[in-house]
Order: sequence, then structure tokens, then C-alpha cells
Amino acid sequence: MTALAALTNHQIRLKARPNGLPTRDGWDFTTEPVAEPADGGVLVKTLAISLDPAMRGWMNEGKSYIAPVAIGEVMRAGGIGMVIASKNPGFTVGDVVSCTPGVQEYCLIAVDQIKRNGLFRIDPRLGTPNQWLNVLGMPGMTGYFGLMDVGQPKPGETVVVSGAAGAVGQTVGQLAKIKGCRVVGIAGGPAKCEWVVKELGFDACVDYKAGNVKADLKDACPKGVDIYFDNVGGEILDTVLTRITRGARIIICGAISQYNNTTPVKGPANYLSLLVNRARMEGIVVFDYTERFPVAVAELAGHLQSGRMKSKEDVVVGMATFPETLLKLFNGENFGKLVLQFA
Ligand SMILES: NC(=O)c1ccc[n+]([C@@H]2O[C@H](COP(=O)([O-])OP(=O)(O)OC[C@H]3O[C@@H](n4cnc5c(N)ncnc54)[C@H](OP(=O)(O)O)[C@@H]3O)[C@@H](O)[C@H]2O)c1
Repeated sequence: MTALAALTNHQIRLKARPNGLPTRDGWDFTTEPVAEPADGGVLVKTLAISLDPAMRGWMNEGKSYIAPVAIGEVMRAGGIGMVIASKNPGFTVGDVVSCTPGVQEYCLIAVDQIKRNGLFRIDPRLGTPNQWLNVLGMPGMTGYFGLMDVGQPKPGETVVVSGAAGAVGQTVGQLAKIKGCRVVGIAGGPAKCEWVVKELGFDACVDYKAGNVKADLKDACPKGVDIYFDNVGGEILDTVLTRITRGARIIICGAISQYNNTTPVKGPANYLSLLVNRARMEGIVVFDYTERFPVAVAELAGHLQSGRMKSKEDVVVGMATFPETLLKLFNGENFGKLVLQFA
């Protein structure tokens, strides 16, 4: 028996599609032996996975920008791992890689799956593995291209971002500041609001849990909102629509307030504000920008290294906690990019 065959792969599979918030009994905990990679393939040991609000969408049946996770399939997740066996000349045992390992301890990636899996070696000089899941990873890329390509910020404009203390929000707000904008966050609770202002340098932050979003937004954005980067949807989007300026850009990045709805998603009642203000609302899917990720990584890594930008991760240890840890995204318990470290 080879050393690899002695290893057991613990996995978490989708057992049933949730109605509302996912629960522990909707997951299957399975094991299987670890296999050698075939020619051109690699075997990756998962070090940490990224917990993302999008995972909730992948658990639903139906058409989206990516196929749903099938019942019985290992739950999809991006992550960081170490190559422990390689039959591919591009990868060496010991390489630390970014990939889509899923919620499992070991991930076998066949040669024809390397691109689809998003496998690449991370450059440790640019950031730590956790930063490669955050500012330099998928959330950072989302913030970068959503703000720069769709938002097109100009110095002096007012940018509002919801989910401000989260993974995408922290990149958006800090980058908008670097581009010379006035930046206002929207986040849940005084601790997150204080952090984005004091630590990240936002100009103001509205605590939506205080219940006065409309009035607080008016105070924080006396000249109106030129760019709204929306991570949450629902009532907050509707309220921001009442404050937009002529020619405003609204980036529809996500709608976390709606992901666990058991009734249909609520659209914005105030959408005619787009007409009055000749404004634009546009969706973004980060995977459309993969070819340009290196450009964004180079710029964001430069900001991290110069100290102009910070990267905050909220790290939870233990794969078995996955069902409960995932829920932190939906009750706002995560403070920064939520990472599940395996060992
Ligand atoms: N389009 C894309 O390609 C793409 C890519 C990545 C992410 N996204 C989207 O971007 C958004 C942020 O993702 P992330 O990874 O950065 O997550 P995150 O902000 O790190 O975590 C989620 C946060 O959402 C907030 N939240 C939860 N329920 C809420 C509610 N009912 N109302 C208002 N806020 C609520 C919580 O913060 P508070 O404590 O402040 O409430 C929570 O901490 C999500 O909607 C996600 O789906 C889109």
C-alpha cells in the first residue's frame, strides 16, 4: 500500500436542498480512500476553504451563472491547499495553491479539470494564504472589477457600499478611498461600523441595525450617492435608491438579505429613481474577469504592501463545524472574510 492509500478523505456532501437557512441534517458526512493522481493530475490537501454567501445559491435547484451542487455531491468551495502528489510538470509537491477543493480534506484534480478548478500556485510574496482567499482572492476580484469596471469611480464622488465590513465590502471601500472618493459603508452593529471608519479609513458608516438607514444615509451623503455597491439587496437597496444622483451607477453584486427567503425575492419598489436620475443598475459575476485577475492582484497586493490597504479575515478552525460556521454569513457573526481552516 502506498502512503496515499493509507489516507482517508473526510468530505461533506449536500444531502438535501434547504428551504430557508441550511441545517446540519441537510449535510452528509462521508469518507473515502485517497487515490493517486493520473497522468497530468495533482492531489491537493486542503488547508482552508472560503465560506461564501454564494454557497447558499449553489444549494438551490435551477438556472444560475453556475450549475447547482447536485444532491450527493461534495459541497463546492474555493480554498487554499498544498500539492501532496503531482503527475503534472507544472506543479511540485509542497506547492501552495489556490483551487476549488470543495468541502473535503483531499482533492484530486485531473489534467482536463485544472482550468475549470481554478488551480494555480499562489505567490507568497504578494500575500498570506488567507489574503489569497480575501483581498487577493475571489472577493477582492469581485470588489475590484465591480467598482472599477462597472462603477467607474471618479475622485470626489460618493461611493456607498453595503456589507462594508465583509470580504467584498472591505476591498470596495478601501479601493474607492484610494481612488479619491468619499466612502460610506453600511454594516450591522457599532463594532463593524467603527472598524471600517477607524481602521479602514471610510468617511462614515451607517449601522443599518440601528433602524434609521434613510436619515443616517442622508446625513452621511449630503451630496447624494454617485455609486452604490450593493451586497445585500432588499430594503437597503430600496432606501439607497432614494438618494442617488444623476448618472449614478449601482453595482448589483449580491443580495444576501434575500438568499434564505422562503417567499419570492423582493425587488426594489423605488426603481423609477433610475429613470429620474438617468442612472444605471448592473449585475456583475466575478468569473467573467478571470483573464484579468493578475492585473487586479498586482494592484491590490501593492496597496497591501504599501499599507494603504488592510485585509481582515475571520478564521474558524475545524472542517466539522462547516454547517454552523456557514451560517455566520447570514446572521452577520463573521467579522471580515470568513475562512474555515482545516487543521
Ligand atoms: N457577483 C459576484 O460575482 C459575487 C462574488 C462574491 C460575492 N458576491 C456577493 O457579495 C456579497 C458579500 O459577500 P462576502 O463574501 O463579502 O460576504 P461578507 O460580507 O463577508 O459576509 C456576509 C455579510 O452580509 C451581511 N448580512 C447578512 N445578512 C444580511 C441582511 N439580511 N441584511 C444586510 N446585511 C446582511 C452580514 O454583515 P452585517 O453584520 O453587516 O449585517 C454578513 O457578515 C454577497 O451578497 C455575495 O453573494 C458576489
